[in-house]
Amino acid sequence: MRLSRLLIALALAALAPGAQAKYNGENRGKPVMPAATNAKWQAECSSCHMAYPPGLMSAASWQKVMAGLDKHFGTDASLDAATTREITDYLTAHPSNRWTAATAPIRITEAEWFKVKHGKIGSGIFQRASIKSPANCNACHQHAEGGVFDEHGVQIPK
Ligand code: HEC
Ligand code: HEC
Repeated sequence: MRLSRLLIALALAALAPGAQAKYNGENRGKPVMPAATNAKWQAECSSCHMAYPPGLMSAASWQKVMAGLDKHFGTDASLDAATTREITDYLTAHPSNRWTAATAPIRITEAEWFKVKHGKIGSGIFQRASIKSPANCNACHQHAEGGVFDEHGVQIPK
């Protein structure tokens, strides 16, 4: 039974340790938004862009973002020490539970899951005046602020 042997070999190969992790281990969490959110995070991290749900990145990524708020993507987003600590604790308590890589990008948009999921969207679309940047999630995802990103809530603006 050559065929069944081949199928078994293929199945074993898929289960083998060392098989490439999904998105190279850079996967968003499930869910991306914890049941209880933090009021300071909501207030302080939503004034220039939407408050990004914690499950979109790893704890190490959040740690880096929060440690560098004074030089935050060309702007100063620094907060007092107590607020910084509270928001850091919130973000690092609810990071992606499917991120297995040792990497820690400081952009959600640099994670492998993001690049794969948005790979078909041309850079010209992200540059539209109605969108401006891939980081502007809620330009396309109608329910992004609630942590909902499924295909039903996606509408790319003209
Ligand atoms: C003073 C304005 C401002 C505030 C306040 C601010 N940010 Fe940002 N943030 C920016 C800008 C500007 C960018 C770059 C956006 C872009 O590339 O389009 C950015 C980008 C980011 C990114 C990367 C997005 C991506 O994937 O490209 C993360 C993560 C982020 N901010 C987290 C936070 C967190 C957490 C807070 C609250 C502690 C916060 N930001 C508060 C201005 C701000
Ligand atoms: C130009 C519009 C646009 C922007 C901006 C955008 N997305 Fe998307 N996103 C899409 C489209 C289109 C899809 C594919 C929808 C599909 O078929 O699943 C997608 C897919 C996704 C998915 C997968 C959904 C699923 O159920 O598989 C997630 C999660 C996601 N986006 C999160 C984000 C986040 C977080 C940001 C901001 C950092 C962002 N997106 C910015 C258009 C956009």
